Amino acid sequence: MGMGNGNGRVRVLIPEESIDRRVAELAEQIARDYRECREAPPDGRGPLTCVGVLKGSVFFLVDLLKRLELPVAVDFFQASSYGEGTSPGEVRIKKDLDLAIRGRDVLLVEDIVDTGHTLNTILSLLRMRGAASVRLCALLDKAEARQVEVQIDYCGFTIPNEFVVGYGLDMGERFRNLRYVGVWEPGQPEVPSPS
Ligand code: PRP
Repeated sequence: MGMGNGNGRVRVLIPEESIDRRVAELAEQIARDYRECREAPPDGRGPLTCVGVLKGSVFFLVDLLKRLELPVAVDFFQASSYGEGTSPGEVRIKKDLDLAIRGRDVLLVEDIVDTGHTLNTILSLLRMRGAASVRLCALLDKAEARQVEVQIDYCGFTIPNEFVVGYGLDMGERFRNLRYVGVWEPGQPEVPSPS
């Protein structure tokens, strides 16, 4: 099974059913850990603030939050490690949060941690702004590619160091809306696929 365009194809790495099952498990684990946020806590911390990093995390964030039985606030960051005047590992904030997070419990939700530079920068920023707690939930951990250490509190899958697409991850904006995660195999013949 796969999807191609003549120049290559996508080989399924994590099928839709496995993602769905793991997302449900992560949501249960997160709900258990943040149970104290279910009712208004005495120190007025407010609901758990879930922060997605655009654009890739949107698909995972929506599926996760729909299964998360907790009151939540939702906000987004957009970062980029590319662009003029940036050196390797330098991360630029393209869109900042709308919400103030001082004193809040923050759960950062990401599709993938690769080199770790993006998450390392964003996690530091959230802590600097005085969040009461900051944790990271990432669907995919490409552990072999790590250049800076990042603690992943909730991890979906550890994956090999390959170019992955689907379920939010793109190749030049293609493939984000695949329901599975796949590996892009250049030069492979197209395989007919129902999706
Ligand atoms: C991806 C991913 C993370 C970042 C991880 O986003 O969603 O934000 O890269 O890489 P790192 O660990 O090497 O820093 P990308 O920059 O591809 O943007 P997108 O989500 O808009 O596609």
